[in-house]
Amino acid sequence: MNEMSKPGAEAKLPDAQHGHNQPGSATLTLDGTGKSITLPVIPGTIGPSVVDIRKVYPELGLFTYDLGYGGTAATDSKITYIDGDAGILLHRGYPIEQLAEKCSFLEVAYLLLNGDLPTKAEMAEFDTGVTRHTMIHEQLRRFYDGFRRDAHPMAVMTAVVGAMSAFYHDSLDITDETHRTISAFRLIAKVPTIAAWAYKYSIGQPFMYPRNDLGYAENFLYMMNAVPAEPYQVSPVLARAMDRILILHADHEQNASTSTVRLAGSTGANPFACIAAGIASLWGPAHGGANEAVLKMLAEIGHVKNIPDFIAKVKDKDSHVRLMGFGHRVYKNFDPRAKIMQQTCHEVLRELGIKDEPLLDLAIELENIATHDEYFVARKLYPNVDFYSGIILKAMGIPTSMFTVLFAVARTTGWISQWKEMVEDPTQRIGRPRQLYTGAPQRDVSALADRG
Ligand code: CMC
Repeated sequence: MNEMSKPGAEAKLPDAQHGHNQPGSATLTLDGTGKSITLPVIPGTIGPSVVDIRKVYPELGLFTYDLGYGGTAATDSKITYIDGDAGILLHRGYPIEQLAEKCSFLEVAYLLLNGDLPTKAEMAEFDTGVTRHTMIHEQLRRFYDGFRRDAHPMAVMTAVVGAMSAFYHDSLDITDETHRTISAFRLIAKVPTIAAWAYKYSIGQPFMYPRNDLGYAENFLYMMNAVPAEPYQVSPVLARAMDRILILHADHEQNASTSTVRLAGSTGANPFACIAAGIASLWGPAHGGANEAVLKMLAEIGHVKNIPDFIAKVKDKDSHVRLMGFGHRVYKNFDPRAKIMQQTCHEVLRELGIKDEPLLDLAIELENIATHDEYFVARKLYPNVDFYSGIILKAMGIPTSMFTVLFAVARTTGWISQWKEMVEDPTQRIGRPRQLYTGAPQRDVSALADRG
């Protein structure tokens, strides 16, 4: 018996037990056929190894089946690592807690894109590169007029970012490294402008052009809140809080929207089209739309005294009600981003002099009850990053409909970094999943007249 497969040894080698860093091979036998294949087990630097199943179909004629891809690595990547059981999130090896404390969002963007934290000179150059691209083509401005005032800003984001492909032809050749770099700069630099204008359009105020003397988060808050009629000073504490919110949302491994960007990009589509696809995927309430859904849920609950009834509804499968901001596909312990977000939330409320925030009281009580309730404990449902971000954003005066947009602004850096990594990988192939077909077997078409 292999040492690792002895029960006693398993307890001492939790990594091996979970297939962490375990090279070697696995054998798959098709019962009753005598057919068997040996599959390589490939280790990563940390985290679970993978069984390379590429030979399963050609040699056994079987597809593998993994609804929701819970146990499937769709790619290898050097960008982000998550250990969902331990609540660890690393970007290029650096813990999210340290990045949130010591770095600016643009430093993290540089890190995600380039693999290492920038030196001072590299940072200055990157900063200038982003700053020089903050304006959007003046003709794109007119696109906004085509939308209803009450259009959801995510609809506007998807459309305007997608439309960038029609304006920046000089950076669409994905085989050219300079084009890829310029597109990355353009996307990171312009999404705050596009997002802020989507908001300004919805409230009927003039668009504010970017100010290149301001930092990234500061400029975004300026474009959202300033009006041409008077000077506007962005609070440094709020700019820092916004910067931190952007850091916490910058990248998150192969989540739904990132996988969407990669899948779209695997066909050779241009980066603007791919990021527009990512924005569409992020919009759903199970993903980026959750921060907006949390606030709606808190408003619906209304008062601490209504929490037990709401929790009862959540536990009732027939109600289809979920506790928004709770649970995560990967984190089965705690979401490290939620902890930082909770701390930031208190800082922001203190800075704004908000002592009594009923929504926060409600959120704290909800978290308290849910983290002790057997239903949530058994299913390892903990608050995720979106549970507190909505409360902070609301306190900062950001309207609810803009919450997911902010997530998209931040995640654009992660998406474009993942897209770049994929395009630069010589082994990259078009993403083309297969299926378990459960429809009708082949049958013949009868003429309409014969079908009764
Ligand atoms: N409230 C109540 N029950 C839940 C919740 C929830 N928020 N999340 C999962 N469950 C239950 C689910 O009903 C199931 O129970 P059972 O085993 O009895 O059928 C069990 O937990 C497992 O759920 P699942 O749907 O298989 O889990 P998943 O990994 O497919 O879903 C999730 C992950 C994030 C979509 C889900 O937890 C959810 O819908 N959460 C609320 C939405 C939310 O906050 N999303 C933001 C995620 S973090 C930001 C981001 O990365 O986008």
